[in-house]
Amino acid sequence: MEQYVIKGGTPLKGEVEIGGAKNAALAILAAAIMTEDTVRISNVPDVRDTNVLLGAIQDIGATVTREDKNTVVINGAGIHTYSVDYDYVNKIRASYYLLGSMLGRFKKAEVALPGGCDIGSRPIDLHIKGFKALGAEVDISYGLISAKADRLVGNHIYLDKVSVGATINILMAAVLAEGKTVIDNAAREPHVVDVANFLNSMGADIRGAGTESIRINGVSKLHGTDYSVIPDQIEAGTFLFAGVATGGDVTVKNVIPKHLEATTSKLLETGCKVIEFDDAVRVIAAKPYNQTSVTTLPYPGFPTDMQPQMAVVLALANGVSTVTESIFESRFKYVDELARMGASMQVEGNVAIIKGVDKLTGARVQAPDLRAGAALVIAGLAAEGVTIVDDIHYIQRGYELFHEKLQKLGATIEKTSTDKEIQKFILKVS
Ligand code: EPZ
Repeated sequence: MEQYVIKGGTPLKGEVEIGGAKNAALAILAAAIMTEDTVRISNVPDVRDTNVLLGAIQDIGATVTREDKNTVVINGAGIHTYSVDYDYVNKIRASYYLLGSMLGRFKKAEVALPGGCDIGSRPIDLHIKGFKALGAEVDISYGLISAKADRLVGNHIYLDKVSVGATINILMAAVLAEGKTVIDNAAREPHVVDVANFLNSMGADIRGAGTESIRINGVSKLHGTDYSVIPDQIEAGTFLFAGVATGGDVTVKNVIPKHLEATTSKLLETGCKVIEFDDAVRVIAAKPYNQTSVTTLPYPGFPTDMQPQMAVVLALANGVSTVTESIFESRFKYVDELARMGASMQVEGNVAIIKGVDKLTGARVQAPDLRAGAALVIAGLAAEGVTIVDDIHYIQRGYELFHEKLQKLGATIEKTSTDKEIQKFILKVS
């Protein structure tokens, strides 16, 4: 297993290039097989999740080639099976996007049922509701979801809960259905808009993506395209929070500032300085910074994927803050790890009450999931002394060149895989 080893206390300063959005790329890669033509996609983050999904796409018979580490070329003409192996779904839930794309194109699909995960039970009842509304028969047995339809016919679908995954999966099935589909109470995330723009560049007819009501006129087939994935707002926010927690001055480049509004407005509330450019955002930390309170909400609200990172910033703020997690039921597993670094936090239901402390101290901690793992690295960068973060495979799922980018901002951090390497790092920095 690998670890990050961090010597904390250095204010992060400088510029960091932000990569493509993982959660947009996963859906776009799945949608790329909806045509027999060749599709070229650039700005794809080279992370474990996207690489596992590319493996699944290859496995069902599509050809996948790389022009470079962030540009893939996919051709779905040779797809010969409509069943995605369990071990892909077990590795990444987003493999279930192949349900929507295969059902849309082939009118049949079979994918292993995704389990729960580190942050909650994560049901997919809304995905299934949408597929059924379009005329598909959906069967769940033996741990598999099978969907098939003689024809897919457009319908009016209301999502009881705002769901990114359900919105995208239903959208993909609807673009090749006959007639008109309306998805109401749809998710409005930038990556939903990106998938809709991608499909429209393939000849789909989707309007209203980014609003709560998406209207789709079914078309008979889709054609190839050349598309670039939007920047990752969560990667950008993570680096901005690392700058704030360490009392630094960080500029994230290649971003869409509007996508970061909920995140940067919270930083303004803490007293930090935020400067927006056309495709960059700079945040200058105010030390000490003030407490504030945040509730995670569907976009354009504060993103749940930034919740653990925000909690670390608030752990070092003046006064008492609260973080309310309204999207997932167990996204506070990192709190016990942070407490071992001196944070004063207690969780009551879906609210974390955080009493700011003067400093955190380094400790050996475990990443419980992707975003909490990144948050623990931020805590280590801000802490006094040395922090070792275990189970960093979670972090590598969604952050490309994570520790290299932090090093460029002045962080003393290395990736190790043995105790000997850890000891060598500690000797070097002490
Ligand atoms: C996507 O997950 C992201 N993953 C998550 O990012 C992100 O946290 C989440 O959206 C919310 O923004 C990808 O895009 C691959 P949801 P998703 O469906 O689509 C409930 C990360 O760190 N729900 O919007 O699974 C669900 O339980 C990951 O990159 C149902 O009840 O999230 C949750 O409470 C973590 N029934 C709420 O909706 C359903 O059928 C929102 O979930 C579907 C969802």
